[in-house]
Amino acid sequence: MRLDRRDTPVSHASDDALEAYETALHQLQAYRGDPMATIDAALAQHPDFLLGHLFKAGALMTAAENRFTTMARQSLADAAKLKGNDREERLRGAIDLLVQGHYHRGGHALDELLADYPRDAFALQLGHLFDFVRGNALSLRDRVARVLPHWTPGVPGYGYVKGMHAFGLEECNQYEQAERAARVALSFDPRDGWAAHAIAHCMEMQGRIDDGIAWMETSSRDWAVTGILAIHNWWHLALFHLDRGNLERVLKLYDSVIFGQPSDMLLVLVDATSMLWRLHVLGHDIGTRMEALADIWQARMKEERGFWVFNDVHAMMAFAATGREDQAQQVMRSLDAAAKGETTNAEMIREVGMPVAKGLLAFGRQDWAGAISNIGPVREISNRFGGSHAQRDVLSLTLIKAAINGGKSNLARHVLAERTFNKPESALGWTLLAATA
Ligand SMILES: [Fe+2]
Repeated sequence: MRLDRRDTPVSHASDDALEAYETALHQLQAYRGDPMATIDAALAQHPDFLLGHLFKAGALMTAAENRFTTMARQSLADAAKLKGNDREERLRGAIDLLVQGHYHRGGHALDELLADYPRDAFALQLGHLFDFVRGNALSLRDRVARVLPHWTPGVPGYGYVKGMHAFGLEECNQYEQAERAARVALSFDPRDGWAAHAIAHCMEMQGRIDDGIAWMETSSRDWAVTGILAIHNWWHLALFHLDRGNLERVLKLYDSVIFGQPSDMLLVLVDATSMLWRLHVLGHDIGTRMEALADIWQARMKEERGFWVFNDVHAMMAFAATGREDQAQQVMRSLDAAAKGETTNAEMIREVGMPVAKGLLAFGRQDWAGAISNIGPVREISNRFGGSHAQRDVLSLTLIKAAINGGKSNLARHVLAERTFNKPESALGWTLLAATA
């Protein structure tokens, strides 16, 4: 029986296929290079490399897009006749659940796999990223904690496991432990963009605006090469500047490193849109930037509507801000249809996504009461449709601004009290509070 570098069993016997898997896995862990190209090259040489097919299918799923799910389905079909060992068959089963849209069940299947193969680094990272997709903070933290006893500093990839734990701790508001874990991760790989990102989140949530700007500007030389994660990290830097009230810098970052190079990857579109929506909601001039985003969303939503509601609501921001009523209505109709299913996304739509989409559309129509009545009741459970606290904060800002615009000063001050307590250094919170006077 072959073992990978972390002593996890692999059924395929070829040295170069296994070597390619190790390279692709490292690229995925470090967010550097192109794991898909690496594994595709190996599969071209070894079409019977089951773990390669499973890696491809799972990694495609982490992009949280319908078009990549279609490709993942194809990878599973390509591997259908290949027989794997126990670990690989369970990995296949878990990925199959994810492809079918059962994110909670898929996440649990990965956890059961990890109980027996706790150093399956791919299963761990896949589970971690889907914990993010389903907004499960406890699982972001504890899935990693459960395998930690089996990871020691000598095991290859130990640092990346600490980086994942750091993000989970942060999402559970354990900021000091999170930052410590992230710094351990960075001692193993100073260019670990996920660990640097966890520190950014700690500073964001604690309202350490100056620290956050200094940290992201200094560490950017290390994570700037991490592809889509780098764009997200630049987004975090922009968020700090927004908190400080430096809008010129926010737009400069947007025009250069966040969306200077237009992309149709939804992870990028989500960040770009939510940043512009924040500016729009706050009443700042964003020029024609949102129109450009809405055009891309419009083209992409033909395939992506109703797939993951976290994406749908960001498309809704673009449509609501640009007054694209037809597109907005199409999103609502597809959410209606998708909500009837049995998938995790159907639950997300019913519990959170539908009211959020309605609230955003209402805000776009300057129907402040509609924005308040839809977003208010679900804001505190909005983790159920995925993302991070920092990303979902856009809902609080929208609610606060709807309350201010709608003359509901008490409500605005009520919600703002959270912000001024948790982030006393944030100029934005105090500026908004002053606007309620
Ligand atoms: Fe983030």
